[in-house]
Amino acid sequence: MTRILHLSDTHFGTERKPVVEAVLDVARAIEPDLVVLSGDITQRARRGQFAAARKFVQRLSLPVLAVPGNHDIPLFNLFARVLDPYGNYRRALGAALEPVFETPGLLAIGVNTTRPRRRKDGEISDAQIGRVAQRLRQARPGQLRVVVAHHPVRAKEESDLANLLINRERALAAWAQAGLDLVLGGHIHLPYVLPASAATGPGGPWMAQAGTACSRRVRGRVPNSLNLIVHEAEQGGRRACRVERWDYSDAAHAFALVHTTRVGGEPPAPGAAA
Ligand SMILES: [Fe+2]
Repeated sequence: MTRILHLSDTHFGTERKPVVEAVLDVARAIEPDLVVLSGDITQRARRGQFAAARKFVQRLSLPVLAVPGNHDIPLFNLFARVLDPYGNYRRALGAALEPVFETPGLLAIGVNTTRPRRRKDGEISDAQIGRVAQRLRQARPGQLRVVVAHHPVRAKEESDLANLLINRERALAAWAQAGLDLVLGGHIHLPYVLPASAATGPGGPWMAQAGTACSRRVRGRVPNSLNLIVHEAEQGGRRACRVERWDYSDAAHAFALVHTTRVGGEPPAPGAAA
């Protein structure tokens, strides 16, 4: 069994300290194979904020795959934004902006969808699409195939349509053909799980959005949340996993499972309960 702890939009600089501790409690209890940080790791890409993020990663003491979000690029420091937009990110989290992690049960590929010349919109290039597709085709049998990107590939709310990743449908078509199972993202602080594309539907790749794991910048009444992805044995020759959403409770000072979505595997038998 492979488990991924999916954290997003930690926004260090606006973190809620008790919630950070609760995230660490979950990580310690579960000991996932990988912790994913799907961008907006800091609030304003400042050194002190990245130092807090780095300390958090050190305290996790687990394999971490991180990709930048738009907040991880300096906004007001134009000098840094133009000349060295990822400098602070790299010093804190490592040189790779598009890291790859694999185990016998998992292939996880990070893509950098931020663009310093854009303020907050995300984009993926043909070169990135091709590189990820090629890596997906090299996956070994039994590996769950996951792409991590900050910007979402599908919206649940109409108001989020403008936040979607530019070139997403081209990317999803190529990656579906290359064997993609799941896209992990963040950016809009709203957790949900959907087929990644209306074009390929539930038989194609899926996407899981995580809310903000520990920031005060929650969206409306959506609490801090995180995802736990559990990849079990293949079902009927198809790779399957479940995506668990865990919400933070202020009363309990802890995260708890609130919802599970099954992704992939055998389609339910006609008439079977969902
Ligand atoms: Fe964010």
